[in-house]
Amino acid sequence: MSTHELFATRASRMKASEIRELLKLLDQPGIISFAGGIPDPALFPTEGFSAAFQAALGPDQKAQALQYSVSEGYVPLREWLIDHMRSIGVECRLENILITSGSQQALDYLGKLYLSPGDTALVGWPTYLGALAAFNAYEPRFDRLSINGNRGAAEHAASAGEGAVKFAYLSPDFANPTGETVDLRGREALLDLADALNCAVIEDGAYQALRYDGDAIPPVLALELARKGSIEDCRTIYCGSFSKTLSPGLRVGWVVAAKPVISQLVLMKQAADLHSATINQMAIDQVARACFDTHIPMLRRVYGARRDAMLQALQDHMPDGVQWTRPEGGMFVWLTLPVGTHGADLLARALDTVKVAFVPGGAFFPDGSGTNTIRLSFSNSDEDMISEGIRRLGEVLRA
Ligand SMILES: Cc1ncc(COP(=O)(O)O)c(C=O)c1O
Repeated sequence: MSTHELFATRASRMKASEIRELLKLLDQPGIISFAGGIPDPALFPTEGFSAAFQAALGPDQKAQALQYSVSEGYVPLREWLIDHMRSIGVECRLENILITSGSQQALDYLGKLYLSPGDTALVGWPTYLGALAAFNAYEPRFDRLSINGNRGAAEHAASAGEGAVKFAYLSPDFANPTGETVDLRGREALLDLADALNCAVIEDGAYQALRYDGDAIPPVLALELARKGSIEDCRTIYCGSFSKTLSPGLRVGWVVAAKPVISQLVLMKQAADLHSATINQMAIDQVARACFDTHIPMLRRVYGARRDAMLQALQDHMPDGVQWTRPEGGMFVWLTLPVGTHGADLLARALDTVKVAFVPGGAFFPDGSGTNTIRLSFSNSDEDMISEGIRRLGEVLRA
């Protein structure tokens, strides 16, 4: 008997991500890719990181940089995060912050912490594929999160059946994949729903800093803090990331939550990887202190211009019947194609005939619906490539 017959039941729920598989094909020359939601490497603060790694390996810091460390994370970085969170309306203390290996690790830990098999996770329809993958391993059922919608707490609780509704997961600013933002009323309504259901809220702030126009809306956690007075009374768990702002390769993210949640996550981190790489946390700390305040406005200018170029090109080249979102930030525009047009088929044709890549939208729906949708990312192409790529996509759609 081979050992793969011994895998636990959860293994059968783990599928290769359509995006990751696709990214393997994108090395071919001449492809214009709107597929990966990744930062433009030309914009990484490389000099700052070079100086930071040199300092971390210098005589004063090398022992700490290369040694084992505490699971909670590098203290100076957590102190910087206290100020950063305050700047977006969240008052918290050192004990409320855990550094994770990217926010993806936080999503995995939160799935592990909250979900027993059969429990319900409320998610957007569509939602971030990586969150679905992380939660899925803990064998939940997914239900459609309805904020301001026609399903209230009673309906959500009823459809959960035997299992409890454990949390609502959402990315309120410029979501992956739609680029859409939940307005203030929606955030307040979400908190009412979570109170009525007595469930946690997982707020994914991966794109929070990347706003190109419109006014910033307070994080859900900030709104809950304003209601309840102390983070210790809040049910919202905020997951942050340096991946979209400074570097995804260093794998540094963070969680802000009430102390009992952080303590339990620390135990998970001890069991899983002891701590995130200290030298990477030191480098992020130094670069954040040196240039976060100037780097973010630069990213907003560059990505904002790319967003504008994509929206203009869609206006110029899309045939009738195609609809798209107009994101105020982030990295994505979400297209709804005429019913019957299959995103995955379109991708095959676009790759083959005009060398344009994107992600078919079906993968972002827990039930595989939404086959007539696609996700386009504008972050990693310049304006000329964006215009040309969208022109070609329009050609394929017309054909
Ligand atoms: C909405 C969202 N959350 C979380 C992540 C994970 O980011 P990281 O683990 O690099 O912090 C991503 C990455 O694409 C994302 O789009």
